[in-house]
Amino acid sequence: MSINPNEVWEPTSDHRTPMGTLHSEAARDHLWMHFTRHSVFEDRTEGGLGHTVPIITKGQGWKIWDDRGNEYIDGLAGLFVVQAGHGREELAEAAAKQAKELAFFPLWSYAHPKAIELAERLASHAPGDLNRVFFTTGGGEAVETAWKLAKQYFKLTGKPTKHKVISRAVAYHGTPQGALSITGIPAAKEMFEPLVPGAHKVPNTNLYRAPEHLQGDEKAFGRWAADRIAEAIEFEGPDTVAAVFLEPVQNSGGCFPPPAGYFERVREICDEYDVLLVSDEVICSFGRIGSMFACDDFGYVPDIITCAKGMTSGYSPIGAMIASDRLFEPFKSGTTYFPHGYTFGGHPVSAAVAMANLDIFEREGLNDRVKQNAPIFKATLDKLLDLPLVGDVRGAGYFYGIELVKDKATRETFNDAESERLLRGFLSKALFDAGLYCRADDRGDPVIQLAPPLIMGPEQFDDIESRLRSVLTEAENHL
Ligand SMILES: Cc1ncc(COP(=O)(O)O)c(C=O)c1O
Repeated sequence: MSINPNEVWEPTSDHRTPMGTLHSEAARDHLWMHFTRHSVFEDRTEGGLGHTVPIITKGQGWKIWDDRGNEYIDGLAGLFVVQAGHGREELAEAAAKQAKELAFFPLWSYAHPKAIELAERLASHAPGDLNRVFFTTGGGEAVETAWKLAKQYFKLTGKPTKHKVISRAVAYHGTPQGALSITGIPAAKEMFEPLVPGAHKVPNTNLYRAPEHLQGDEKAFGRWAADRIAEAIEFEGPDTVAAVFLEPVQNSGGCFPPPAGYFERVREICDEYDVLLVSDEVICSFGRIGSMFACDDFGYVPDIITCAKGMTSGYSPIGAMIASDRLFEPFKSGTTYFPHGYTFGGHPVSAAVAMANLDIFEREGLNDRVKQNAPIFKATLDKLLDLPLVGDVRGAGYFYGIELVKDKATRETFNDAESERLLRGFLSKALFDAGLYCRADDRGDPVIQLAPPLIMGPEQFDDIESRLRSVLTEAENHL
C-alpha cells in the first residue's frame, strides 16, 4: 500500500478557485450537489444557519481530510465505493498509463484491450454461466440495461408480453427513469411520476420489522417474504412479468440481509414462472460482503448481475451488467442486436483501473480479510445495543446498519418531525464533528450506516464504536 500517514498536510480553509473565489462560496453559488438540501447553505444572514459546504480534499487509506485539515474516518468508503482505500498510487498510475496509450474509444462495434480483459476477468468471477459483460458508466445505467435486456430477451424468445418487474419496498436501484421505477422509495419518485409503468413492489427482508407472527423465526419470515414475490407474479399475470430485482443485502432502510432460505426460494419461484432474477450488486459486489459477487456469499445463481462502485475502488467510474449465456443466445445470429449503449460505457481508463484494482484485491486478499473480520466488526457494533437509542444492528461483511428507536421494548420508531430533529438536526453533523464520516439515513426507519474501506481492521472498528457511542449518548439530549 502506498499510504504515508506521516505526510504533512497543510490545513487551510481559504482555498480559492482559479477565478479567485473561495471554494466554499463557489460551491454554494455554482455547484448543484446530489440529493442535497441547498437551503442550509443559502442562509447568509447574521446568526442564520449559515452552513458551509463540507469540502473533502484528500484521502489516504481509511482516512479523509477536509479543507481545514480536519481528519475523519471514512466510514462509508465514499459512497460504498473505495474498497481498496484512498491514495493508491498504482491505481492513479494505471489510469495515467492508459490515458497516454488510448484515452478513449467506444465499445460501439469496436473493442479495446482493457475492456476485453476486464470482461473476461469479471466473467471468471461471476457464478454459473454469467459470461457476458455489458459495460456502463455506473450502477443506475446497469439496472436500466438489465430491464431493457429482460424486455428484449422475452420479445426475441416468443414471450413478448413479459415486460414488468418486481422489486422491494424501500430499495434503491438508481435514478434513470427505469431504475427509478424499480426503486421502492416513494419520496425519491413522486416528483418524477409518471415513471416507467410496470414496476411492482413486494415486502423487503427487514427481520426487525417482520410481521408479528413471524418475528424471531428467520426461516419462516424468509419463506413468507419470498412467497410475496410469487404472489405479485400471480397478481400481475406470469405472462407479463420479466424480472425480479433484488440486492443481496438491501441497502436502503439500513442493511437487510436475506433470511436463511430466502434466495433459495426466490430462485425456485423465478424458475417456476420463467422470470429473470437480477442480483443488483452495485453495493454488495467486490468484497463488500466477502466475495467478488455477493450472490456467492448467499449461495444463489442469478440470471443477471448489476455492479459498479467498488469495481475500480472509485478511482474512475464504471459499471456493468453481467448476463447469462442463455440471455445472450438470441443475439448470436442474424440481424438481431441490443439497441442500447453509452458513449463512456467501459471507458478504457476505467477498465484499466478496474484491472489494477482487482490485482490489489488478489495480492492483498481483501475478500478473505472481509470474511475474517466481519464477525469482529459486527460484534464490535453490537456493543452499542446497550444504548437506549439503538434498537438493531444488522448487515453482513463490511456493511452494517444501526437502527435507532424511540422505545426499545416496543420498537417504536420516531415520527417525521423527531426523525428530522435527530438525524438532520443533530446526528449527521455531530458524527462528522466527531471525526466519523458515515450515513445517517431516514429513507426508511432512521439508521446509521457503515461501509468502510476493506483495508480496515479491528483497531478501527473499536475507534468507530467509541465515536458512535459518545455521539449516540449525547443524542439522547436532543430528542
Ligand atoms: C443497489 C443499487 N443499485 C443502483 C444504484 C445506482 O448506482 P449509480 O449511483 O452508480 O447510478 C445504487 C447506488 O447507490 C445502488 O445502491
